[in-house]
Amino acid sequence: MKFITVDSYEKLSKLAANLIASQVVLKPHCVLGLATGSSPLGTYAELAKKYDAGDVDFSSVTSVNLDEYAGLDKTNDQSYRYFMDHNLFAHINICPEKTHVPNGCADDLAKEGERYDKLIADLGGIDLQLLGIGLDGHIGFNEPDEFFTKETHLVTLDPSTIEANARFFASKDEVPTQAITMGMMSIMNAKKILLIANGQNKKDILDKAFNGPITPMVPASILQLHPDVTVIYSEN
Ligand code: F6R
Repeated sequence: MKFITVDSYEKLSKLAANLIASQVVLKPHCVLGLATGSSPLGTYAELAKKYDAGDVDFSSVTSVNLDEYAGLDKTNDQSYRYFMDHNLFAHINICPEKTHVPNGCADDLAKEGERYDKLIADLGGIDLQLLGIGLDGHIGFNEPDEFFTKETHLVTLDPSTIEANARFFASKDEVPTQAITMGMMSIMNAKKILLIANGQNKKDILDKAFNGPITPMVPASILQLHPDVTVIYSEN
C-alpha cells in the first residue's frame, strides 16, 4: 500500500485527479468506480480542468458509482446521481448512458443490487475505484457490522453517518436512513484503489483501517488485503 501525505486539500485533489487522468489516458475504455461526498469535490473540479485543457478525453470511459440513498431520485439535489451529474459528468465528455449509479428508487432494491453487480461483472470489473472513508470506517455505505457483505445491498445507515451527512441536508431528519451500496466484492475486485481523505478528524480512522486488525467493524480495513491501494491524506 502507498500512503501519501500532502499538506493541503488542493494538493490532494490535484494528485488524485492526476492518477485518475493517467488511468484514462493509459486505458481510454476503462471503468472508473466513483464516490460522492465532500472528499472528491476538489478531485472532480481538477478533472474538469484537465478536460477543458484538452489533456484527457472521457468519451470512452464507463463509470459506476458506489452508492445511492434509498428513495431519492435524480431530481432530488441530495441524491448521489444529482451530485455526480452536477459535480463531474456535466463538466466532462463522458457519455451519460455510460454513467451508472445504483437506482435508490427501484421497486425491489434487492433485485437492483443483483442488476448492479451483474452490470459491473459484464463490464469486466472496475479498473480504478475512488473511495472516501467515513468516520466509522465505512467505504461506500458498507457500515461496521459483524461480517463483510459481498454483493450490492440495502443498508441501514449508522447514526454517526446520518449525523455526518446531515450537513448536506436542511435537517438531520431529512437524511434518508437507508441506502444501496456496492458490496466488498466489486470494490475488492477493482484493479486499483485510490482512497482520499482530508481533515484531522479522519486521522484516527485511517490509522485503525490501515494499521489495525482486519475486521468488519472497521470496513475499510479489508483494503489491507488489496494488492494495489493508494491512500492520499491531507490533514487540512
Ligand atoms: C460516498 C461514499 C462514502 C463517503 C464517505 C466520506 O459515495 O461512498 O463512503 O466516501 O462517507 O464522505 P466525505 O467525503 O463527505 O467525508
